[in-house]
Amino acid sequence: MLVERSCVFLLLLWLVGTLARDPVGYRRKVSLEYNPGLNISSVNLLHIRAVGNNDTIHYVWSTIGAPTALLVYTRSQNSTLHVNWTKLFSPAPSGAVHVEPTDSVLYSTAVIFSKVFEYNGANTSDLFKVPADQFYPTYNLANFTWESLGDKMNKTTLTATFRGAASGPEGTFGNGSISFQNSGEKLMQYGAGTSEKAPCGKDSSQNMVTAYEENSRDARLPRLLHTANCSKVNFVMSGVAPRGNHSRFALEIVTVEEREGRKQLESIRSIDDEYTPTIFEMAQLVSVPRNHSTTSSFLQWKTTAYSSQHAERADTIHCQYYPLQTTNCTVPRSSIAHAYFGEDLESHHAIAAINISFGSEDGEAYEEKRYLSWSALIGFGEPPKDTFSTLVIAILAVGLGTPVVLLVGGSIAAFVSRKKRYSEYEPIN
Ligand SMILES: *[C@@H]1O[C@H](CO)[C@@H](O)[C@H](O)[C@H]1NC(C)=O
Ligand SMILES: *[C@@H]1O[C@H](CO)[C@@H](O)[C@H](O)[C@H]1NC(C)=O
Ligand SMILES: *[C@@H]1O[C@H](CO)[C@@H](O)[C@H](O)[C@H]1NC(C)=O
Ligand SMILES: *[C@@H]1O[C@H](CO)[C@@H](O)[C@H](O)[C@H]1NC(C)=O
Ligand SMILES: *[C@@H]1O[C@H](CO)[C@@H](O)[C@H](O)[C@H]1NC(C)=O
Ligand SMILES: *[C@@H]1O[C@H](CO)[C@@H](O)[C@H](O)[C@H]1NC(C)=O
Ligand SMILES: *[C@@H]1O[C@H](CO)[C@@H](O)[C@H](O)[C@H]1NC(C)=O
Ligand SMILES: *[C@@H]1O[C@H](CO)[C@@H](O)[C@H](O)[C@H]1NC(C)=O
Ligand SMILES: *[C@@H]1O[C@H](CO)[C@@H](O)[C@H](O)[C@H]1NC(C)=O
Ligand SMILES: *[C@@H]1O[C@H](CO)[C@@H](O)[C@H](O)[C@H]1NC(C)=O
Ligand SMILES: *[C@@H]1O[C@H](CO)[C@@H](O)[C@H](O)[C@H]1NC(C)=O
Ligand SMILES: *[C@@H]1O[C@H](CO)[C@@H](O)[C@H](O)[C@H]1NC(C)=O
Repeated sequence: MLVERSCVFLLLLWLVGTLARDPVGYRRKVSLEYNPGLNISSVNLLHIRAVGNNDTIHYVWSTIGAPTALLVYTRSQNSTLHVNWTKLFSPAPSGAVHVEPTDSVLYSTAVIFSKVFEYNGANTSDLFKVPADQFYPTYNLANFTWESLGDKMNKTTLTATFRGAASGPEGTFGNGSISFQNSGEKLMQYGAGTSEKAPCGKDSSQNMVTAYEENSRDARLPRLLHTANCSKVNFVMSGVAPRGNHSRFALEIVTVEEREGRKQLESIRSIDDEYTPTIFEMAQLVSVPRNHSTTSSFLQWKTTAYSSQHAERADTIHCQYYPLQTTNCTVPRSSIAHAYFGEDLESHHAIAAINISFGSEDGEAYEEKRYLSWSALIGFGEPPKDTFSTLVIAILAVGLGTPVVLLVGGSIAAFVSRKKRYSEYEPIN
């Protein structure tokens, strides 16, 4: 009877675990547009339009200046992006990028990938413990030369790759490059109740800046769970020649939060690592609007990077993030954030910066493989939350169920034996 009950209990838990996951959820119609209104491909501006039931999320990715992603949320399905190219290339680009009708815009934010630091991590990989003289000259991403996006975007898979290399005297980059890859796997659909394992056959090794049309989980490690309200970016360093024997790299990210809002760094720990083996922490930068408006955004990542294009567990690279800096932060002079938010954006909006470093003291994964890939989601609204995987729920249920069975069984046995012993004891008296 007890065994039967715990089986039913397990089954119920498993059902709850399966049903709790909304496999497709909210859907958006996503389209890509390259350099709208401009007929040259020496500069890159990618407009991703994600139209929902009543709203549109506009993502604007550009490598004009520092690589920047703008997210603009509008309450209209008909809002459109306008780029005044003359103004954008002028010394005063303020207002060159805007979304119309302006009163439909409910929220905007920007994420700027500003710098890559390289330092000697022989004694410590902690960015803030490394002595200043152990840093190599910083790679300023705004100074990079970026290849044309023209043939590196795919309107079917909703992916695009921005690839750039250091130009000028900043470093011996070798044949290496840094890329920001977006990707959207809209063909992936999971039926209710089916396993979340991604369909095979879909080679997503070339994944990039991705926009998503619906809920699903990435096929690739770190297998981030995404929704229709976010897009993914992969930061990839490939073939870049390290300038020392124990080089470690770190990425600086600057964010812009509108007017009264501010950013907040959160860490989410879980005992579940089924989807991202050995990684139990997820970090996210969420916006906190001052007067409880529901509009907000997030940047979410798992604390891991990988040293291979076909990432496996063995390719895990330690990834560490540092406290959010909110004072004295500036947005790189050249970034489309200025074209959207205005020239003097530091005094009207909340700017925050965060550093993320890759590699630990003991590992030389980058030097060996010369490849590093880190993924993050940029999105609108609530960040996706991992529910416990069915496997972990089952293990928990067994783990909790067994002691209960033992306890109940044990008590009964003890009760029976005590009664028996008592009855045996009596005649002695
Ligand atoms: C773009 O420019 C090329 C030549 O530079 C021209 O042949 C082509 O028609 C132009 N396309 C548009 C849409 O203006
Ligand atoms: C769209 O918005 C209108 C009014 O703004 C509202 O009546 C309608 O229910 C909304 N539809 C959905 C699907 O949210
Ligand atoms: C959006 O455009 C379509 C056709 O272009 C129109 O039918 C619809 O009313 C428009 N919606 C709004 C909210 O302007
Ligand atoms: C674009 O900007 C330039 C320079 O600021 C301005 O002269 C021009 O009128 C603008 N074009 C449009 C269509 O707004
Ligand atoms: C590492 O520590 C050793 C011993 O403390 C010291 O000699 C060496 O200079 C340090 N190296 C770096 C890069 O800090
Ligand atoms: C886009 O990706 C799909 C699927 O991988 C592929 O079949 C198609 O050829 C690609 N299109 C371009 C233009 O690269
Ligand atoms: C890199 O950019 C900074 C600021 O944007 C500038 O001061 C510096 O001269 C640039 N370096 C090169 C090599 O272009
Ligand atoms: C760069 O690539 C070329 C040809 O692909 C090769 O000959 C050269 O050795 C490479 N340089 C470095 C530093 O890897
Ligand atoms: C995505 O955004 C829409 C519109 O704000 C919202 O209704 C929906 O619940 C969101 N989806 C998720 C998964 O957050
Ligand atoms: C790196 O290590 C090699 C041998 O392990 C050594 O010959 C070389 O001098 C080292 N380079 C630096 C910059 O320390
Ligand atoms: C939020 O606060 C600002 C001033 O701090 C005010 O202008 C704005 O109307 C408020 N928004 C809402 C939705 O209450
Ligand atoms: C911010 O910058 C100002 C001027 O450069 C400096 O006086 C102040 O100490 C800085 N604040 C912080 C927290 O670094």
